[in-house]
Amino acid sequence: MSTQISEIKRVTTHQLQEMKNRGEKFSMLTAYDFSMAKILDAAGIDVLLVGDSASNVIAGHETTLPITLDQMIYHGAAVVRAAKRALVVVDIPFGSYQGNSSEALRSAIRIMKESGAHAVKVEGGAEIKESVIRILSAGVPVMGHLGLMPQSIYKYGTYTVRAREEEEANKLISDAKVLQECGCFAIVLEKIPAELAQKVALELSIPIIGIGAGGHVDGQVLVTHDMVGITNEFQPRFLRKYADLYSIMTEAAKSYINDVKTGDFPNEKESY
Ligand code: KIV
Repeated sequence: MSTQISEIKRVTTHQLQEMKNRGEKFSMLTAYDFSMAKILDAAGIDVLLVGDSASNVIAGHETTLPITLDQMIYHGAAVVRAAKRALVVVDIPFGSYQGNSSEALRSAIRIMKESGAHAVKVEGGAEIKESVIRILSAGVPVMGHLGLMPQSIYKYGTYTVRAREEEEANKLISDAKVLQECGCFAIVLEKIPAELAQKVALELSIPIIGIGAGGHVDGQVLVTHDMVGITNEFQPRFLRKYADLYSIMTEAAKSYINDVKTGDFPNEKESY
């Protein structure tokens, strides 16, 4: 009889830092459920983000605003149960950390305790500094998120590229520095000019992860449902589709429907 001991070592925030220091890029994808997380983890993804984009791709909401802390914890726990190697980061949802650092800490602690996640992510810069410091003070690693911040969509009114103008670009650089000084272990930059993202990645010592922010940053993230082509209507310039699961699943569903209707499924081998 042999006993198998898992040799798989979990990716840590320190390893991401070391990867940046070595100039080695790392990969991050979103996951919201056990089965998808298991596939991505086994494929070797470094970071799994339980994004509040679950509000869009899983629940069908127009924005990320409606998703609740309880729902994020539910998704987070499912992903944690599947992830043997990846670092799991859970988004703190809209309304659970802005403007009240005590509530921010409570939300982060609930995520860590109830989902088993390894870190949390928040959107914003100087204006959420107190919340970030409070969460970090409890020993919870924090990932920042600047540029296009979907939780603030009603402030922008549009999902277009952010920080093209000098004033907004300067504010983004200053916010990134605030987050680094607070102690964030990484920052996501969403939908900003590649040149600006490169500047941030060069000026900051912590890892910078891009989505629609060009190739000169330390890591990349995509929403998995977009990357594998399940969400077939979403086609922004920054998205590379690695599969067309929408077509594959549509064909599979059509074949199944046909087989059921014609009596071909189940056959004798598929029966008891
Ligand atoms: O919620 C999410 O999926 C995200 C990524 C787009 C970075 O925040």
